[in-house]
Amino acid sequence: MSKSLSRIYPLLTQDQIAARVKELGIQLAADYAGKDLVVIGLLNGVYPFFADLTRAIALDMDVSFMRVASYGHGFESTGEVKILTDCDTSIRGRHALIVEDIVDTGLTLHKVRKILMDREPASLRICTLLDKPSRRRVEVPVDYVGFSIEDHFVVGYGLDLEGKLRNLPYVGIYNPA
Ligand code: XMP
Ligand code: MG
Repeated sequence: MSKSLSRIYPLLTQDQIAARVKELGIQLAADYAGKDLVVIGLLNGVYPFFADLTRAIALDMDVSFMRVASYGHGFESTGEVKILTDCDTSIRGRHALIVEDIVDTGLTLHKVRKILMDREPASLRICTLLDKPSRRRVEVPVDYVGFSIEDHFVVGYGLDLEGKLRNLPYVGIYNPA
């Protein structure tokens, strides 16, 4: 941990993240007021964001999770997306909101969105903490974005480097050089 920590440059502080999460929560509470909402988190990376965001939305909701993996290790997602654990909550006729840590190429959400659309929700939207628009390979409608960032490999607040560093309370740029 300490070896990799020396290669991390802060990008978003805990305070910046908390302030933005609070804003998103207010916006989502307004947009989904009176609706039957199911919030679906994509594990593993979403866990801190999901816990903070759902608690910032002052509405009744169901929470559910999917565990997905894009094959490959380290810095690149290969585009082969696999559902490891499916979400076990019915979304038919309900308002579903997917919550993700980061949208990069868009391949993961493209696939997850397709799978969930087949289940005929009343609506399906996407909320991500981070967006790297310059990396997009397929178009995905991202409805709520915490922070739009440049093309850096980032870690912390759920984001990992080969499984590690998810528990850093802030988001940093990992510089291997
Ligand atoms: P795609 O390319 O499918 O990628 O939109 C989404 C998944 O790729 C991982 N990813 C990252 N993980 N730092 C990370 O720790 C990053 O900068 C990064 N960019 C993409 C992440 O698992 C995400 O769910
Ligand atoms: Mg990851």
